[in-house]
Amino acid sequence: MTLYGKRILIIIAGGIAAYKTLELIRRLKDDGASVRAVLTKAGREFVTPLSVSALTEDKVYAELFDLTDEAEMGHIELSRDADLVVVAPATADLLAKMAAGLADDLASTVLLATDKPVLVAPAMNVRMWEHAATRRNMATLMDDGIAVVGPNSGAMACGEFGPGRMAEPAEIRAAIGDLLAGGAKPLAGRHVLITSGPTFEPIDPVRYIANRSSGRQGHAIAAAAAALGARVTLVSGPVAIADPAGVTVVRVETAAEMLAACEAALPADAAVCAAAVADWHVLDQAAEKLKKGSNAGLPTLRFGENPDILTTIANHSSARPELVIGFAAETENVVGHAREKLARKGCDWIVANDVSPETGIMGGADNSVHLVTGEAVEDWPKLAKEEVAARLAARIAAALDAAG
Ligand code: C5P
Repeated sequence: MTLYGKRILIIIAGGIAAYKTLELIRRLKDDGASVRAVLTKAGREFVTPLSVSALTEDKVYAELFDLTDEAEMGHIELSRDADLVVVAPATADLLAKMAAGLADDLASTVLLATDKPVLVAPAMNVRMWEHAATRRNMATLMDDGIAVVGPNSGAMACGEFGPGRMAEPAEIRAAIGDLLAGGAKPLAGRHVLITSGPTFEPIDPVRYIANRSSGRQGHAIAAAAAALGARVTLVSGPVAIADPAGVTVVRVETAAEMLAACEAALPADAAVCAAAVADWHVLDQAAEKLKKGSNAGLPTLRFGENPDILTTIANHSSARPELVIGFAAETENVVGHAREKLARKGCDWIVANDVSPETGIMGGADNSVHLVTGEAVEDWPKLAKEEVAARLAARIAAALDAAG
């Protein structure tokens, strides 16, 4: 959902994840929200009032007993003049204060005084998150009706590993959208089919031809579509990343298997072909492992063409999804090739990205894409693959809504 006319109060507490909150604010503003920020004393150690203020385009609220602040906008008004209060990062300390009802600074006072929904995005060291005190506090907050997003598992700034990383801006944005929509999810009731990862084309029982696709972008799109309420079928080639939560995963190896799994998954409202499908398979696959130094000399591989899954889905006679989206990985003339591909494959949109080696996109965390929708081209900034996924999922929801 868009956030036009929505007022969001963000409370930034003192954690290294505060830098991600800057990105969250930018996103919320881009999506039309007006954002006010309260920065705690500890929060100011991680991000400056100037950066926060530049992004909110408002002053930053920091002190409880500031006469000017109280004259312009008292803390009670601040806590009520919002549609939603978001605490990101929510530190163990601030969560404990909230659970206990303490109010000894502006942030905790606003949280005690508010009559609006509150969303917290916890961020802390894994031991602090797993501590019995934090467990108790979280249980109390959930009983009190506080909404929670994250934390995620992963490597932490303190060098440890486990749950405690603040949710990504895209995930917090999605949780905000859900709360403001009163739980209505824009892809609820829709089926989205997604292909992801590489394919493996066998040469003999132990060797295969593959490519460098990590599956990160396709899996992120599956997660983003599921977060918006879609039923998601993710047909994935062999990848080393975890299955997204709440998604039906069908594991395949070859392009032929991927096509069969996709056809079995139809009908779908939308299909996103993000897999890096091998263009060819090896003809005359050896039943036994090819031997070095055999009389035949060096082996020669002969190739046959693989089915084009995107083209097949986009031209399906009985079950073409309303929206069919392909990806185009190019190393030059990115948009030009994407346009040509859109026409040739018969899909509706192409997400085109530059995968020349110097971009680091293939297998990397970020993506820089152009969304080619017929004649129009949108150049998206360089974003985390999760962010690209969240934006694309939101666009899919809007397009399916518009189509009825
Ligand atoms: O033709 P090219 O491989 O560049 O096209 C990329 C797009 O086509 C991607 O969306 C990819 O998932 C899809 N594709 C496919 N089946 C193939 C080859 C590509 O679905 N055999």
